[in-house]
Amino acid sequence: MNERFIAFTNRLNKNFKHFSKLMRKQNIDAYRIYDKDIPEFPFAVDIYGDSRVIYEYHTPHKNIADEERQNAVLSVCMATDCTQDKVHYKVRQKQKGDEQYQKTGILGEDLIVSENGIPFWVNLDKYLDTGLFLDHRNTRLRIKNEAMGKRFLNLFAYTGSFTVYAAKGGAIYSETVDLSNAYCEWAKRNFKLNNINTKQHIIIRENVLEYIQQTQKQFDLIVIDPPSFSNSKKMTNSFDIQRDHVLLIKQAMKLLSPNGVLYFSNNLRTFKLANEISEKYNIKDISAQSVPIDFRNKKIHRCWQIKHFQAALK
Ligand SMILES: C[S@@+](CC[C@H](N)C(=O)[O-])C[C@H]1O[C@@H](n2cnc3c(N)ncnc32)[C@H](O)[C@@H]1O
Repeated sequence: MNERFIAFTNRLNKNFKHFSKLMRKQNIDAYRIYDKDIPEFPFAVDIYGDSRVIYEYHTPHKNIADEERQNAVLSVCMATDCTQDKVHYKVRQKQKGDEQYQKTGILGEDLIVSENGIPFWVNLDKYLDTGLFLDHRNTRLRIKNEAMGKRFLNLFAYTGSFTVYAAKGGAIYSETVDLSNAYCEWAKRNFKLNNINTKQHIIIRENVLEYIQQTQKQFDLIVIDPPSFSNSKKMTNSFDIQRDHVLLIKQAMKLLSPNGVLYFSNNLRTFKLANEISEKYNIKDISAQSVPIDFRNKKIHRCWQIKHFQAALK
């Protein structure tokens, strides 16, 4: 291995020892051990059970050569005690449209990882993302803790992980909405894996923007975690979180019962919550609690708890 990578290997090893112990105690198989800790090594490294994922952060000014990539893989193997076939290498570039959700062309292998004792299907090759967004682990647990006896709505649901937690926490009914057939199927497999009844917990393949205008139902707990931008062929208009969040939140608040709670989150660095929303509803920024301890980048997402004002008076 190149000498330059010794610092990277040492940091990985130190973090792996620390986080593997911490996460084992909590029954968590999937977590981050390296998050661009050393600027010279612009990677994130995640553990998924016996497998590892390296994300290379592409910077326009610096191209990472194949040899450097190979060195990064060797460092991960040495530091976390695994063989090279267990390491999955991905390049994170600025995405256009819904590119992030397109297939990579590699089929990969479906694996099960557990989080707080709850199993999920992941695939470390098929798409850029794995099926489980690790930065939402804390919010998933929060949903489980708040779900008892509630009607739950999961918008932009991806593989349905928030709903799995809600059902495990005792939600009596739920709707899980996503535009993608592939992710609705994946959600279905996660429900099956967790013995969740799909008559009580319904998966809907639809454009959220149309769904929220049409549904007449009321929910007590809602999660909205949209992409920053989406222009899928299945949509008539594009979706832009900065431009469209006011309408989205206002529509969703109409579906929220008077004492209900809505969680709204997104990953857009430059995102500003409109004054209209903070004035109209009872808002709390919970990002300091929602970003997990293993994410050094505390700006990975922002998350707000939103309630009707009258709920606070009761
Ligand atoms: C950031 S991911 C959501 C992550 C998810 N909340 C979680 O924590 O697992 C975005 C998801 O939004 C879906 N999506 C994008 N535009 C949509 C739309 N207009 N209506 C419904 N789903 C949409 C994508 O298919 C993708 O699954």
